Amino acid sequence: MNKNITVIVGTKWGDEGKGKIASREAENAKLVIRATGGNNAGHTIIYKGTSLPLHLVPGGISNPNAICIIGPGVVLDLEVLLSEIELLKNTGIPNIDERLKISGRAHVIFPYHKELDILYENMKKHPVGTTKRGIGPSYADKNNRTGIRMYDLLLPTDKLKEKIEEAIKPHNQLFKANNMEYAIADAKSLAKEYHLLGKKLEKYITDISPIILDAIDNNEKIVVEGAQAFRLDLDHGDYPMVTSSNPVVSGTLCGAALPPQALNVVIGVDKAYNSRVGNGPFPTELPASIDENGNVIKDAVPLEGDIVRDLGHEYGTTTKRPRRCGWMDCPILHSAKYTSGIDYLCLNHLDTLGQIGLKLGYIKVCTSYKYKGKVINYYPDDINLSGEIPEPIYETLQGGWEIDSSCKNYSELPDLAKKFVEIVEKASGIPVKYLGTGPANDDLIVREDI
Ligand code: GDP
Ligand code: IMO
Ligand code: MG
Repeated sequence: MNKNITVIVGTKWGDEGKGKIASREAENAKLVIRATGGNNAGHTIIYKGTSLPLHLVPGGISNPNAICIIGPGVVLDLEVLLSEIELLKNTGIPNIDERLKISGRAHVIFPYHKELDILYENMKKHPVGTTKRGIGPSYADKNNRTGIRMYDLLLPTDKLKEKIEEAIKPHNQLFKANNMEYAIADAKSLAKEYHLLGKKLEKYITDISPIILDAIDNNEKIVVEGAQAFRLDLDHGDYPMVTSSNPVVSGTLCGAALPPQALNVVIGVDKAYNSRVGNGPFPTELPASIDENGNVIKDAVPLEGDIVRDLGHEYGTTTKRPRRCGWMDCPILHSAKYTSGIDYLCLNHLDTLGQIGLKLGYIKVCTSYKYKGKVINYYPDDINLSGEIPEPIYETLQGGWEIDSSCKNYSELPDLAKKFVEIVEKASGIPVKYLGTGPANDDLIVREDI
């Protein structure tokens, strides 16, 4: 089998800059595929100077020759999808109707999924801090075999109504019990409304397997644009503070309907500092003036985490929530290397880390942890909410650096930035092939010798 698949995955808690590298890798690709999650993701790409926050359509849509697929592993909010298609058309990106394909097997997010997401979060003693986009409840219905797929929307309305009726029985009971009459779903009106939405999207809905077979047989490059990240993986992340899909490489191949034998390369994406949005462990987190609801405390004296957040513009692409910020964590990268088979790293925001160093006077890198009395170089899998969080062991660099996007060669980087990269490579065991120096596709140093 030809081996021409490039998979791009997040190595921490999301927002590492996957959209940018996916859009760049798509420049010579035939297919670009989103495989997991839904509009909990927010991938920023820059198209001819315009910043586009994409939630569902792969960033590879910026290549006018690439076919972009929303794979069977994705869950879809149709209103969001339609407005994204409109945004792309209005931005002048060509041939969207010919190039966008949606797997008929992708599942639909209904309004009741969003209500359930809020309800479940409110019921929890330790909420996950979900994006409240209905992601978890939609995947739960899929697992319960009551999910509605894109194909189902195209059935005659009475058949679709039957399926929705099955799906909403337990949900409506729950809404009633919680005095949420406004959330109670009506199968008849939903069937009518969603059949119409399905018809609007019909031209994109398809069986993606012949497209994939063709691309692999002709040795065309396929890019998988992973969403979310390693520590948010349902099986391998910080359970229960995770999302409801499998963003590690094996999960993305499954969600994209691709054979592992056709894999060529895996690019793990990280930021030179780290961030997390939502709840859960974050060993290298820096203190910040954020209240218990996750909002920035106005007029508070900025702490280290606030400085990093503001220099990195770390506010969610999807929810606008301020992101929690901290230092680079290498033990997580080391674990991600093995869980996802990462060949190379792309470290974005090297420019921002330099600014952070200049502002604070120092930069720290976590190279190992102290955990249960031992020094370890991987992320332990037995952490629970009330348990001990690994204590970072840091290497400290004094000062920072200035770089801008005109820097294209590794050799031109300031010595301190190179030292940072060397520490990350040694502690993670992964070569750093790409270094981000700004938000645009070509704000990147590529080390061709690696
Ligand atoms: P994704 O979810 O992994 O695709 O990442 P997001 O788009 O949510 O967040 C990454 C943010 O960092 C976006 O605003 C990007 O435009 C920006 N970005 C990506 N790489 C770089 C970089 O190397 N330097 C700077 N300054 N910004 C970057
Ligand atoms: P991209 O692809 C950052 C997080 C949420 C929450 C947890 C569960 O842009 O990197 P969910 O709504 O999925 O049930 O929320 O997962 N989360 C993300 N955080 N970037 C993402 O995607 C995320 N997708 C989900 O913040 O903590
Ligand atoms: Mg994002």
